[in-house]
Amino acid sequence: MAEHFDAVDVIRTKRDKGELSEGQIDWVIDAYTRGVVADEQMSALAMAIFLNGMNRREIAQWTQAMINSGETMSFSSLSRPTADKHSTGGVGDKITLPLAPLVASFGVSVPQLSGRGLGHTGGTLDKLESIPGWQANLSNDRMMQMLEDPGCVICAAGSGLAPADKKLYALRDITSTVDCIPLIASSIMSKKIAEGTGALVLDVKVGSGAFMKTLDDARELAQTMVNLGTDAGVKTVALLTDMSTPLGKTVGNALEVRESLDVLAGGGPADVVELTCELAREMLNLAGVHDADVEEALKNGRAMDTWKSMIRAQGGDPDAPLPTAKHTETVYADADGVITELDALAIGVASWRLGAGRARKEDPVQAGAGIEILVDRGQKVTKGTPLFTLHSDDTDRFERALESLNQGWSIAPIDESVPTPRQSVVIEKIN
Ligand code: URA
Repeated sequence: MAEHFDAVDVIRTKRDKGELSEGQIDWVIDAYTRGVVADEQMSALAMAIFLNGMNRREIAQWTQAMINSGETMSFSSLSRPTADKHSTGGVGDKITLPLAPLVASFGVSVPQLSGRGLGHTGGTLDKLESIPGWQANLSNDRMMQMLEDPGCVICAAGSGLAPADKKLYALRDITSTVDCIPLIASSIMSKKIAEGTGALVLDVKVGSGAFMKTLDDARELAQTMVNLGTDAGVKTVALLTDMSTPLGKTVGNALEVRESLDVLAGGGPADVVELTCELAREMLNLAGVHDADVEEALKNGRAMDTWKSMIRAQGGDPDAPLPTAKHTETVYADADGVITELDALAIGVASWRLGAGRARKEDPVQAGAGIEILVDRGQKVTKGTPLFTLHSDDTDRFERALESLNQGWSIAPIDESVPTPRQSVVIEKIN
């Protein structure tokens, strides 16, 4: 790098609400990746950005510098167009599982480079690893083969894409600088642009179980990411979707695979089907396929056939029984009335405490652990109606899980409450 900057100057610029220059951003990201800028200096800069923000030009430059920190991939040699989906993460969000084979079954390749879960939101790879034999790590060559046939792949992102983000994300996690729109947008989009997809649909979650708790924040994050993608030549749209209540009726790894199989078999919960079909239509549209009957492809087994090929190609047995937890416990309604609340965060934390998620990167997860939600918001119940089934391999996890779960549901007398079933998961589209 020709120009040399000083980390203290860069931090001071942002601390004093100044604009970082192109040279400053390129230098600080490169120097941090190489270990020349120390963690404590990058922590100070991340906090200054958290407090004082970045403008559109700075965010674009920051994203480009993170892309430049590692390798980039290209799918241009494939015979089919590509479309990818990224979700900002939510409770019960298993959509990638039915979505990737559904879209691929219409001739559009879907490269889903995914991660493991940290905290109360589950990771796609953790879910798939509950399928006996299934392998997350693939070589680039194998990945490219799978994108031709069966046309989709869900695998671990290699460490070569945007290594600056990997380092910075770990630092943000321990310095309380994760929930910052410029940093989240550049983190997600650096990886997606480096991956080389032609089209990208973003599922930006809003509500208690999401990073973005308000619609205004979710809108700003979505617009920032759409601008970054579009400016980089990736056709990008975002859907803002509801995460006040978990998606579907299961939270936990094998439980969510089972529910995804229900969707691929033409059934499954209405909200999971709705979101899968909406996202599939957006991905297919961006990739130039405009008349796809995605609902029919779930009903007639076409998406299921692609799913089975995808699972087999990664060593998994799609017909093997899924693991189940050793113990279960059921929670019952304590009164007659209407279910007025099923809170995503409380249910997500409870599932995590049952063993479905991890507190540290290196922790194992339990394949069978999690929660089945047996009722809907707005449903009438009587005292004694089963509301939830908890699953875990360790009975001593139930108490702490219940502490969280019991903060997350409520029953109101029928004559005093207005039932609030979820109307639609998709709130708004941003492009
Ligand atoms: N996911 C990411 O990849 N990065 C963030 O900053 C937040 C969520």
